Amino acid sequence: MYNEKVMEVFKDPKNMGEVENYNGIGTVGNEVCGDIMQITLRIEDNIIKDAKFKTFGCAAAVASSSTATGMIIGKTVEEALALTNKEVIEELQGLPPQKIHCSVLAEEAIREAVNDYRRRVAEGTAK
Ligand code: FES
Repeated sequence: MYNEKVMEVFKDPKNMGEVENYNGIGTVGNEVCGDIMQITLRIEDNIIKDAKFKTFGCAAAVASSSTATGMIIGKTVEEALALTNKEVIEELQGLPPQKIHCSVLAEEAIREAVNDYRRRVAEGTAK
């Protein structure tokens, strides 16, 4: 069902785990399949210094989170927010139609993590 690229990323995912000293965290779930994705970010001077994920989900979700985190490290917060699941799918050279929603989780988890960071900044609790 998956192409070689997806399988390659799935078998050797990058950025797995939790960023030490993260200052933004986003957890999202898919109501239909019940899978969950968590992304932690370390943001300094408006740059995504580090990004990691924990995904309790399918191969497409793992490959999407690995790819998406890799795509935003070193980018500005605005660039990270602009990342779409379409770009993640392109990077993965395609996902089966029934697995498109899995890549949406990555886009949403990044947005949640950035929102969390912005909330902490507004509250003065961002590290
Ligand atoms: Fe749920 Fe892929 S089937 S994230």
